[in-house]
Amino acid sequence: MSRLQAERLYKVFGRRPDDAVEKLRHGADREELRADGTTAAVIDASFEVEPGQIFVVMGLSGSGKSTLLRMLNGLSEPTAGHVRFDGQDLTELSAREMREVRSKKISMVFQHFALFPHRSVLENAGYGLEVQGVPRAEREKRATEALELAGLKGWEKSWPDELSGGMQQRVGLARALATDADLLLMDESFSALDPLIRRDMQDQLLVLQKRLKKTIVFITHDLNEAMRLGDQIAVMRDGRIVQIGTSEDILVTPANEYVASFTQDVDRSRVLTAGAIMADPEDGFVRADAPATVTEDTPIIELFTPCSTSEAPVAVTDGDGTLVGVVPRSRLLAVLGEPMESEPGSEPRDADAPGADTAGESAQDGGKSVGKVSSGA
Ligand SMILES: Nc1ncnc2c1ncn2[C@@H]1O[C@H](COP(=O)(O)OP(=O)(O)OP(=O)(O)O)[C@@H](O)[C@H]1O
Ligand SMILES: [Mg+2]
Repeated sequence: MSRLQAERLYKVFGRRPDDAVEKLRHGADREELRADGTTAAVIDASFEVEPGQIFVVMGLSGSGKSTLLRMLNGLSEPTAGHVRFDGQDLTELSAREMREVRSKKISMVFQHFALFPHRSVLENAGYGLEVQGVPRAEREKRATEALELAGLKGWEKSWPDELSGGMQQRVGLARALATDADLLLMDESFSALDPLIRRDMQDQLLVLQKRLKKTIVFITHDLNEAMRLGDQIAVMRDGRIVQIGTSEDILVTPANEYVASFTQDVDRSRVLTAGAIMADPEDGFVRADAPATVTEDTPIIELFTPCSTSEAPVAVTDGDGTLVGVVPRSRLLAVLGEPMESEPGSEPRDADAPGADTAGESAQDGGKSVGKVSSGA
């Protein structure tokens, strides 16, 4: 069973939100509603997050990402639709039950993590536990462990203003980790950091995730960050989810021109893997002729040298060493050029682009059915 499930979620701000949902269900778009003074922040969003997954929600400013996240932890009540967490419908919980779930099972990490200036780093990291009423000794033990996990061992007694922005953000991460909450909601958590520190935090999160196997919803407007972190990526546009898929799905089979234009500057050779582009071996393929043998998760940038030295395709094996496919040179070159048609800022194609003009639903189904779920972590 999936850990977290959003089912046809809507969030409308303004007067008569229910009427607005009805209009949206009948095909109205955001702009039409705006004319009436209502904002459709999230429109018909459905997705599932599996245990241990990093699910990334990506979209431009104003596309509805934070509003979606706030519905996932009950800070904002959906205008329509359901959120299920471990099978429990959050929309049916009382305020008290919701607070309980939020303090024990869900942690948020924000973009600008506000630390208490007059509390030590250790006390800041243990704050979530304090709210839960965990006794001091245990609080300090768990906060110390969490700080170590977040790469801040030795800083426990420092004050927040002695830390750099990146380190303060780590304290925020430590606070979330200390509570043992296994659903982490991260809203642009790394966006305020310098590029190098940001990359470092991404690496750290991936390392932590390998060990802790939390369920994470991570919001970003940065495609490269989405591709590095996401097991699944949902692309939002104007309140709707226009595609859900792995980074490969989004690069290789973008649901529409919008997604294609979003991804056109990505370095495909580093994101795409041998497993994502491999073909079936042709009759007569002899494994001994292959200039190299790689595993499915090898980035294709590593295939160029072997492909340049031999006419024979590169062999691709699974974890057990069984041949699962091949990558011929022609395939390698072709995928770097795809998709050809997209232009920056162009509008979605209509007829031939799955999900281009429809509600998120069909695009999501399309996304899910393509490709494998890469391990990401
Ligand atoms: N409380 C609110 N009242 C009215 N409108 C709101 C409210 N919160 C959000 N909105 C509107 O909903 C839309 C989506 O906002 P949201 O904050 O979810 O976007 P976002 O994708 O998180 O953007 P950003 O990347 O800038 O954080 C925006 O048009 C915003 O103005
Ligand atoms: Mg936001």
